[in-house]
Amino acid sequence: MAFEAVATVDQLPPGERIVVEMGERYIAVFNVDGNLYAIEDVCTHDGGPLGEGELLDDEPQNPKVECERHGATFELTSGKPTFPAVVPVDRFPVKIEGDNILVDPENPL
Ligand code: FES
Repeated sequence: MAFEAVATVDQLPPGERIVVEMGERYIAVFNVDGNLYAIEDVCTHDGGPLGEGELLDDEPQNPKVECERHGATFELTSGKPTFPAVVPVDRFPVKIEGDNILVDPENPL
């Protein structure tokens, strides 16, 4: 495992997201009501930036992000997409250690 710090806890309060460059990947990290999710910042339909998408949290246990390009949604918990995307987005391990939020970009879930 290769966890790396991407932000401090203070930098990513509930309702916020950040996009970080980790090696050759861009990863979007979301804080939804205190739960952290890390996904590739690339829509599997046509490359839209998911970190800029609207967060859909009408189902609190199953938050989704909507790609702003053509409207596909992705479950943050599973990566599962809706049309027009058909391929799940990669998800990554994320955890808190001390004051830091860490992501492992080398071992997609
Ligand atoms: S690029 Fe995301 S829905 Fe088309």
